Amino acid sequence: MIQFFISGTSSGIGKALAEKALAEGHKVTGISRRHVIDHENYHHLSYDLANMDSYLKMNFNRNRQAELLVLVNNAGWLGEVKPVAQVSPDSFKRAYEINLLAPSVLSKMFVEQTQTTGQKRMVINISSGAGAYPVPSWSSYCASKAGIDLFTRVLQADHPDVQCCAIAPGIVDTEMQGEIRRVEGKYFPDKQRFVDYKNQGDLSRPSDVAQKIYHFIEHPEEIPDVVFSLRDVS
Ligand SMILES: NC(=O)c1ccc[n+]([C@@H]2O[C@H](COP(=O)([O-])OP(=O)(O)OC[C@H]3O[C@@H](n4cnc5c(N)ncnc54)[C@H](OP(=O)(O)O)[C@@H]3O)[C@@H](O)[C@H]2O)c1
Repeated sequence: MIQFFISGTSSGIGKALAEKALAEGHKVTGISRRHVIDHENYHHLSYDLANMDSYLKMNFNRNRQAELLVLVNNAGWLGEVKPVAQVSPDSFKRAYEINLLAPSVLSKMFVEQTQTTGQKRMVINISSGAGAYPVPSWSSYCASKAGIDLFTRVLQADHPDVQCCAIAPGIVDTEMQGEIRRVEGKYFPDKQRFVDYKNQGDLSRPSDVAQKIYHFIEHPEEIPDVVFSLRDVS
C-alpha cells in the first residue's frame, strides 16, 4: 500500500490522481480549500496554502504500514494575468506562496518527519512548461514554476535517498485552462492560442495525466530526469 499526500485534490490533475490512487487501493491525504472526495481511504485537510500557519501543523507520519510514502505538490494558481506593471503586489505574494513557498516547506516537512521511518519516499512537484520559457502576462506563474524546477533539483541533491522529480503535465483540460481562456484578451496576447487548443481537442484529460504520473510512481526507474515533461515521454 502507498500513502499519498496530494495538494489540490478538489479539481483537475490532483483530483484525478487522488481518485486513481484510491481506485488502486491506496490511502490518500488531500489538501485543498474545497473538500470534494468522499472515500473511506481518503482524509481531507482544508488548508489554504497561501497561509503557512495552516499547513505547518501537518503530520506526515500517519501510516507505518505503507511501503511507500509519496508527496505530490500539485496545487497551483495562475496569479493575475497582466503585464508586470499592472500586477498587484498581493497577487505576486499569493502566487509565490501557493506555487513555490508551500511546496518547498511541505517538501522539507515531509522529508524531515519521515526520515527515520525506513519507508521508501518520493516527492513529485507538479511544474509547467511555463517554467522554461516566458509567457507574456504570466510573470509570477513562470517564475514560480522555474523556481520549483530548481528547488526540486536541489532537493534531490540534498536527499538522494528520496526520489524527487518536477513534472510538467502538458496542457490539461482543467479549471485552470478555463480560467486562462476567460482572461481579458487585452492583457493576454497568447489567449487565442489557448482557445484554439481547446477547440482543436489538443488538451489532455486529467485522468490520462494522472495515469502517467501514477506509472512513474510505480516505475521510478523509468523517470527520465529530475525535471521532465510528460510531453517528452510516451
Ligand atoms: N491544466 C494545465 O494545462 C496545466 C499545465 C501545466 C501545469 N499545470 C499545473 O498542474 C497543477 C494542477 O493544476 P490543474 O490544472 O489541475 O488546476 P485546477 O483544476 O485549477 O486545480 C487547482 C487545485 O489547486 C488547489 N489550490 C489552488 N489554490 C489553493 C490554495 N490557496 N490552497 C489550497 N489549494 C489550492 C485547488 O483547490 P481549492 O480551490 O479547493 O483550494 C485545486 O484543487 C498546478 O500546479 C498547475 O500549475 C497545469
